[in-house]
Amino acid sequence: MSKKEAKQRIEKLKKVINYHRYLYHVLDKQEISDAALDSLKHELYLLEQKYPEFITPDSPTQRIGGKPLEKFEKIKHKIPMLSIEDIFTEEELQDWEEYIKKLIPGEKFDYFVELKLDGLAISLIYKDGILVCGSTRGDGKTGEDVTNNIKTIESIPLKLHIPKPGEKLLKELKPEIQSSIKKILKKGKLEIRGEVFMNIKDFNRFNEEQKKMGKETYANPRNLAAGSIRQLDPKLTASRPLRFMAYDLITDLHQSTHSEEHKIMKVLGFKTDDHAKVCKNLDEVIAFWKYASKIRDKLEFQIDGVVVQINQNDVFKKLKVAGKSPRAIRALKFAPKESTTRILDIVFQVGRTGVITPVAVLRPVKIGGVTVTRATLHNEDYIKKLDIRIGDTVIVRRAGDVIPEVAKVITDLREGNETKFKMPSECPACGSPLKKEGAYWKCSNPNCGAVLKRKLYHFVSKPGFDIIGLGPKAINQLMDQGLISDPTDLFYLTKGDLIPLERFAEKSAENLVKAISESKKIPLSKFIYSLSIEGVGEETAIDLANYFGSLEKIKNAKKEELMKIPDIGEVVGENIYNWFRDKKNLEFLRKLENAGVQIITPKIKKHQPLKGKTFVLTGELENFTREEAKEKIRELGGNISSSVSKNTDYVIIGKNPGSKYKKAKNLGVKIIKENEFLKMIK
Ligand code: IVH
Repeated sequence: MSKKEAKQRIEKLKKVINYHRYLYHVLDKQEISDAALDSLKHELYLLEQKYPEFITPDSPTQRIGGKPLEKFEKIKHKIPMLSIEDIFTEEELQDWEEYIKKLIPGEKFDYFVELKLDGLAISLIYKDGILVCGSTRGDGKTGEDVTNNIKTIESIPLKLHIPKPGEKLLKELKPEIQSSIKKILKKGKLEIRGEVFMNIKDFNRFNEEQKKMGKETYANPRNLAAGSIRQLDPKLTASRPLRFMAYDLITDLHQSTHSEEHKIMKVLGFKTDDHAKVCKNLDEVIAFWKYASKIRDKLEFQIDGVVVQINQNDVFKKLKVAGKSPRAIRALKFAPKESTTRILDIVFQVGRTGVITPVAVLRPVKIGGVTVTRATLHNEDYIKKLDIRIGDTVIVRRAGDVIPEVAKVITDLREGNETKFKMPSECPACGSPLKKEGAYWKCSNPNCGAVLKRKLYHFVSKPGFDIIGLGPKAINQLMDQGLISDPTDLFYLTKGDLIPLERFAEKSAENLVKAISESKKIPLSKFIYSLSIEGVGEETAIDLANYFGSLEKIKNAKKEELMKIPDIGEVVGENIYNWFRDKKNLEFLRKLENAGVQIITPKIKKHQPLKGKTFVLTGELENFTREEAKEKIRELGGNISSSVSKNTDYVIIGKNPGSKYKKAKNLGVKIIKENEFLKMIK
């Protein structure tokens, strides 16, 4: 990027970031996720680092929060409410330690770690032990007076708790702190800061009620908490179940560490983080971070990382503030699931079923610790709806194990030279014309090489024939050399065929031939999966195998019979029925049999107390993992469905059941707890 281009990019980024910050901080609205906005800020930060001459005082990197709202009184913070620099990796954490150690050579210190709640920061002032003011952060220097709203939050004491002289926590504190506490309860000002937030359950309940009344819903608990605090009617705030957790004691009560601050706040009647603790070194900090990410989904509230800071207050102070945040504190965030990057090209991938999927080639970007270079664009309609063009800056999302997708275009960052995409009229692999099926374009050639390759990858994959040592690269080679043109050819390969191929030697060739031969004995469910019938994934294949018990029975089943399986609807039922009536497919089955493939039919237990019953699982079970519970149900003749309908016989609920529980209640489906299920399967 030339200097001129960098300048233009910086200007554009500043505008876009400011727009989203205004939406978020002033209007409590959000159009793009925090992760996406963070990623844009990071791009701006990097560019400004490279070209410091382009940093202006109004850059989002140079200030703290948003403008306070007009409607509230302004409150000047005696000590500014600063923010925390975010970091995302262990390396960044180590760099930080190295950086601060250089600034305070020889200084001894520990770390204090606590959960980073995803809510909004609030400052509370107590005068002579009574709550007199609650304010938002605002721009860090001036906030909004939201005292009346704050007073409705029950976890905030209106009067500081007066500890009994013998109280255990009080006794753990130094004598000079104990006497300062006594004094401050009677006379003087005390400032405490913390986070106002909402529990996830309360948030969901609130949104559901809003929906029922046809009113606006909120995107996440933080937006709802912020919206509830920053509105003028305290009655409305009172109707929202907000909570408060304290994390910072501003007033000097002779505390010398942050951990003492936590204890003091607890003594004074505030909720603090129970998970918080002192860490001796970064290994312990990292362990805490990992622990937090593990319990994250089990917590009642949302967290977006952990806060790590130097526990010794004098060392903390010595390190001073750099720009907008103290050097002695970092937010160790969880890897975001989204980031921004640019689309370099759009290419087309031919899938197992012949569907042509447009795929964005991306400027490589790290999301959740993984470098992403491609993202699916789904289909032509999706690209049109989002108006995705080559050259666009986009938000890419990678949730769990799902394929990364382009979720949004940041159109304000367009430069004018982005090019519109055009769906090809021919298959990019074999050149055959494409035909449209629903939202998808498909290759019309049943023998398209790319389709066959994909079918082969699927055939040998773990849920299918599970042939170890036969990955996509080996399959490509075998096909390109003309050694195989269909899965059945695999079973005739010899060591001599494989040795001349790249990456194969005597031993590996021998191992692969052995693995192929051993795979010939295959359970019915895996065999069905391997056939690439549209809509038949692992779960459906298992259901088919258990319900029918043999390939013959599945082959001869009528559509209506197939649809008796809970997760098979009209479309998939028809796919299966048609697949077994296609001459080519029947020929393929015959060839597999001739090659020596032997199907192992599922053992049907004599004792089948759950026969014909359909189960849905929700929540965490104590005695089983999800998979174990499913297997048990199947073994005893029952079926599993992923969603509740009137055809469901039982919904088994564990801890923290999801929406399926509600749906079951609404439909009047029988709901049973884990212990009742245990009785059923005895
Ligand atoms: S300490 C210098 N501790 O995160 C600021 N902040 O991204 C000291 N937050 O403004 C703040 N949990 O609203 C601290 N345990 C925690 C926190 C926490 C959430 C919020 C807080 C802060 C923001 C910075």
